[in-house]
Amino acid sequence: MTSHPQVPAPFEPIPQLDLAAQYATIGAEIRTAVEHVMASQQFILGREGAALEVEIAKLCGVTHGVGMASGTDALILALRACGVQAGDEVLLPPFTFVATGSAVSALGAKPVFADIRPDTYNLDPSELERRVTPRTRAIVVVHLYGLSADMDPILAFAKARRLPVIEDNAQAVGASYKGRRTGSFGDVACLSFYPTKNLGAYGDAGMVVTNSDELAARIRTLRNHGQSEKYRSSEPGWNSRLDEVQAAILRVKLRHLSGWQRARQSHAAEYNQLFSQLPGVMPPLVAEGCEHVYHQYTIRIERRDALHKFLSERKIGSTVYYPYPLHLQPLYSTLGHKAGDFPHSERAAQEVLSLPMYPELRKEQIARVVETLAEFFKC
Ligand SMILES: Cc1ncc(COP(=O)(O)O)c(C=O)c1O
Repeated sequence: MTSHPQVPAPFEPIPQLDLAAQYATIGAEIRTAVEHVMASQQFILGREGAALEVEIAKLCGVTHGVGMASGTDALILALRACGVQAGDEVLLPPFTFVATGSAVSALGAKPVFADIRPDTYNLDPSELERRVTPRTRAIVVVHLYGLSADMDPILAFAKARRLPVIEDNAQAVGASYKGRRTGSFGDVACLSFYPTKNLGAYGDAGMVVTNSDELAARIRTLRNHGQSEKYRSSEPGWNSRLDEVQAAILRVKLRHLSGWQRARQSHAAEYNQLFSQLPGVMPPLVAEGCEHVYHQYTIRIERRDALHKFLSERKIGSTVYYPYPLHLQPLYSTLGHKAGDFPHSERAAQEVLSLPMYPELRKEQIARVVETLAEFFKC
């Protein structure tokens, strides 16, 4: 679509995410926490990391947390601890961030895709039966945008087939399904504290959470060179520890998480209400029994690319998460997929757009985003 001739007079830009606004509210607390770490001069595997592990496990409603250097490492080591090896197949949705698939590939295993539901963007449980083979070794479930996947049928399928379930809970910390927090359903769950996440560090960080003593102990060993005791390694691992500075920052932010979550939910309710007057926009569905934490507020619209451009010309931030489903990524060209193989993922990739969403977003900013969309529909 060509440029719209009548771009209105400049407004204050509305970013899609405003971490500076968050830092303005918590900067003093963060600086104090970091100063404590500096004073302790303990940077790796210290008390901040250990305390964060306990706090995050409690938040997810499980018994163990194991801090990691990133969400991707959390996925790789969780898959490995669940027994996934080179040549195995792992079921996962193609509509996700690439790390969900590349963690599988990092172990030499093969990602086998199962399409999503078009309304929730999460794994369609009925697809699992179609895609499972005798080589399937695990299932990775993603809770995309902050909404839980439909866990009951997925867990029932996994139980019947004796397959471990790994939750990719990178985007949904704090979300729940039928009264239970995401991260507590699988054999193991992986969290990312990438800076833009609802609970974001000031660099890379992640965590594995689980109720299994055995998996927790194994992953704890794997993240630290396979050392079961100091300088005694029982298997090849590597370095994927969460450092003390990030842990201290995350502990400060964790104290604010439930308030931020409520703010996100209230912004989503405001958007939903305003969008109810605007046919042509499909707001995010909140599946029954789910508490959505709106890591993203993602709408669906046919002329998505034109809208993306229209908003950006009016200084409103929006992002396409994600424009290419995994089966059509060059990374996976050797798997031999083609357009049409996973139609719901492909259509979502063409139609989704995430609008400004962060706790500090103001009501009048939401109104301006929606008014701008209304203007777009008149063009
Ligand atoms: C769904 C999903 N899985 C995995 C990851 C990987 O996490 P990280 O960036 O911390 O490695 C991310 C975030 O980036 C994600 O959004």
